[in-house]
Order: sequence, then C-alpha cells, then structure tokens
Amino acid sequence: MKPDVVRTVQEIRKHVQKQKLAGKSVALVPTMGGLHEGHLSLIKKAQEVADYVVVSIFVNPKQFNNPDDLNSYPSDEATDLKNIEKLGADVVFIPSVKEMYPDAFATDVKVSAGIDILCDAHRPGHFGGVATVVTKLFLQVGADFACFGEKDFQQLFIIKRLVADLNIPIKIVPAPTVREEDGLAMSSRNARLSKSDRQIAPQLQAAMQAVKTNLHKGISIEQACKHAWNSLEKDDHFKVEYLEVRCGEKMVLMDKPSEGCRLFAAAWLGGVRLIDNIEI
Ligand code: PAF
Repeated sequence: MKPDVVRTVQEIRKHVQKQKLAGKSVALVPTMGGLHEGHLSLIKKAQEVADYVVVSIFVNPKQFNNPDDLNSYPSDEATDLKNIEKLGADVVFIPSVKEMYPDAFATDVKVSAGIDILCDAHRPGHFGGVATVVTKLFLQVGADFACFGEKDFQQLFIIKRLVADLNIPIKIVPAPTVREEDGLAMSSRNARLSKSDRQIAPQLQAAMQAVKTNLHKGISIEQACKHAWNSLEKDDHFKVEYLEVRCGEKMVLMDKPSEGCRLFAAAWLGGVRLIDNIEI
C-alpha cells in the first residue's frame, strides 16, 4: 500500500496522534533520502519494534559544511517513495526547508560530548546541524522509537547523549551497518563514486579487517593502524582522514584493544568521503 505523504508539522502530528490514541506505538526512521538497503533495514527494524512507522526525508542544510556536498546530495523523491512503499511504511514526512527552518529560526542544539574528534574534527559544525534537526524531528513527530544505523556510530553516540540530556521521551534503536557483497558499507554517497573508484572502495573495509586481525595477533594499535594507513595511501587512491581505535561506549581513544572497542575510519576516494567502523 502507498504510504501517506505529509509535508507539514501539523499534518505529521495529526497522523501520529491518531495512532497513539488508538494505542499504537510509533517508530521514526529519519533519513535524508537517497534510500539504499541500509535505510530499508532501518525501516524493517522500525516495523519490528513499533506498530506504526514514520520515515522522514529531509536533506538538512544545517549539517553540510560544504555547499558542493549539499548540492550534489542524491535526491529522488519518487524512487524513495517507491522503495518505502515496497516495505509498507505507514507515512512519509517530507518537510520543506521553510517548514523546518522558517525565516526567524534562531536556535541551535549543541551536544558537547563526542565532538572535536573523528568526523567532527574534519567537518566542524556538522553534528550541531544533526543535533538540531534530530531534536526538531523528535519533537515534531512524537515517536516512541527512532532507528539509526551503526555506520554513523559517532552520530548515534551524540544522539543518545542528546536524548538522555534533554529527557526526550524516545528510545534510540541502533541497527548494524549493511554492506555490499564486497564489504563496502552502504551509503548514499557511494552512488557518486566513479566506476573505477567503486572497484577500489572495498579496500577501506579490507584494510580495517587487516587492522582487526593484526590487533588480535598482538600487534599494537599504533603499528596496525600505521600499516593500514600506508597501504591505503600507497597507490594515491585514498587520502585517509583518520584511523583510530576508540571505546564504543565513551568514544575515548584506546592505546590497547579491549572489549567493546571499535576501529573508526574515514578516507577520501576521488571526491567522495567514505566512513566506516567495525567492532574489534
Ligand atoms: O544520518 C542521516 O541521514 C542524517 O544525519 C539524519 C540523522 C537523517 C539527520 O539529518
């Protein structure tokens, strides 16, 4: 069945309130469109945890610090709606920029944990934009659950902090990273890789798996990461931004691997920034 499509805060609130009055639980899957299997797995997860599923599509200008990145962000509403319809989500909320950020808009939400490191060190202001839009979506929709992928682990960490700090009555449901058969983490940005770069892209995940293997053999984090960094950059295809092992719970940098720690990576390939993380 075709999902309802609504474009205003008033309409989405009406839809959700009706479900809640009928005793139904509601899950939100926030997206920026360009839906791929990773998003679809989030919608399936939402259907497992709640009776009624809201998917939001909003390319949030506040979280792009590079105008070219914003302008080239894949956007195809008709295809996204077809994919959502196949899974049977209930309603799609597609607000305009004006609806989300009217002229007088003057509020920013800033989380002070999990920042200045990893992606935030390279994309200053990005997570402020994410925190602001996610807070708005949580308050607008009033869902009981919200599903986020572990591929954006730092984002997930910051959103969990935000929800706890602001006492927002919503449960954050994480979902594992979905990968292509060759190991590349799914991302809307993969569509921008050239044909030859798409062949090379899985080397990032392969280098990360090699770090994991080396750590399990007792090689130090420093040595294992240095080796992976050099091997990725040796042919001048990748430009590595970071390759770090951090504790998955507090995001602090580890000097020795221990339970629950993760390897985080970001690298440029052509004009495309790839990020990934794995449990060690
Ligand atoms: O992960 C994303 O797609 C975005 O950062 C999100 C959470 C939808 C906020 O714009």
